[in-house]
Amino acid sequence: MKIKVNKNFENIKETYLFSEIASRVKKYQQENPDKKIIRMGIGDVTLPLPKIVVDALRGASAEMGVKETFRGYPPEYGYDFLKEAISEHYKQIGVNIPSASVYVSDGAKSDLGNIVDILGDNEIVIPDPVYPVYVDSNLMSGHKITLIEGNIDNGFLPLPDQIAHEVEGAVIYLCSPNNPTGAVYSHEGLKAWVDYALKTGSMIIYDSAYEAFVVEDVPHTIYEIEGADQCAIEICSFSKFAGFTGVRCGWTVIPAGLEADGIKISKLWSRRQATKFNGVSYPVQRAAESALSTEGKEACAANIAYYRKNASMLAVLLKSKDIKFTGGVNSPYIWLQCPKGMSSWEFFDFLLNEAQIVGTPGEGFGKSGEGFFRLTAFGTNEATKEACERLDKLL
Ligand code: MLT
Repeated sequence: MKIKVNKNFENIKETYLFSEIASRVKKYQQENPDKKIIRMGIGDVTLPLPKIVVDALRGASAEMGVKETFRGYPPEYGYDFLKEAISEHYKQIGVNIPSASVYVSDGAKSDLGNIVDILGDNEIVIPDPVYPVYVDSNLMSGHKITLIEGNIDNGFLPLPDQIAHEVEGAVIYLCSPNNPTGAVYSHEGLKAWVDYALKTGSMIIYDSAYEAFVVEDVPHTIYEIEGADQCAIEICSFSKFAGFTGVRCGWTVIPAGLEADGIKISKLWSRRQATKFNGVSYPVQRAAESALSTEGKEACAANIAYYRKNASMLAVLLKSKDIKFTGGVNSPYIWLQCPKGMSSWEFFDFLLNEAQIVGTPGEGFGKSGEGFFRLTAFGTNEATKEACERLDKLL
């Protein structure tokens, strides 16, 4: 063919991190069929959906089979009932997000990857290590990225004063509670970013997918910070909060006040979604609505408490081995320093070969992740206990 392809793809790794891990694990399992692997790599939930959510899915599916209640295309930005439930969720946290600022989607990953469609060629500022989607989607679009280093000294919570050069009109990605490090910005830390964005005319894209794990006095949403409604988009998900990794639903908040070049950001996103997205199915939106009900939230909180037990088991083990780590309190992720100076892929191979435990090498989240490793608490209690026993013997 004589067509031109997007050469920017040459600037990203050939395989997406979690696909690469899956294929390495598959190969290992084929070569060692008798070994029992414990998967603590991708942050995928293992508990089934709460009953109230399943009932909502069933009920809405049944409605689709009846002439009077059948529905065709859903609204591109979500049904009002779900947008209102999300707005109410924010109200319970103590912030006012009108339902008109909420855009329902099939998940945070899609929105985080698609948001580049509506942005021009800005400088991109991204803490490193980080969820690979921010970097990859910007590299695919040929954007220039400034990485700011997270490390043990700053608790993997870099602040704007680490940016060495003058910035104007940058797009800044933040994730808190953080994937992969589990670290969480305090109100002061997040305020430093919001103030910086306002001062430099920048926009923050805030990934709050792990918000439901927050137990300490740290922000659940960037809109707890004054001025954030003038400079920040927030992207969130039902995946980790309600176990929707296989159901698919999330949302993006674009405050009405966000404007650049005299154009409302919400207008661009509305236009983008209306062109490229046909909305989330009715049963899924009813299921998401049920997860946000009082009973739904209680059931989801019980599941999160279950995962938290896993995080505690891992934390106790690592402390007993004097291994440094962050996360595991307001987050399902434990981010540990690889022992004996191993590189993160060396440690990956070591754990897989010697203990049949799969984790995620820190290097896969960026250069600053080298020498670190992520374990997820999303497994079963039994598997995590067994993993701790294996690690206890090995480390
Ligand atoms: C992760 O393991 O980092 C997440 O599960 C990936 C995702 O949410 O897309």
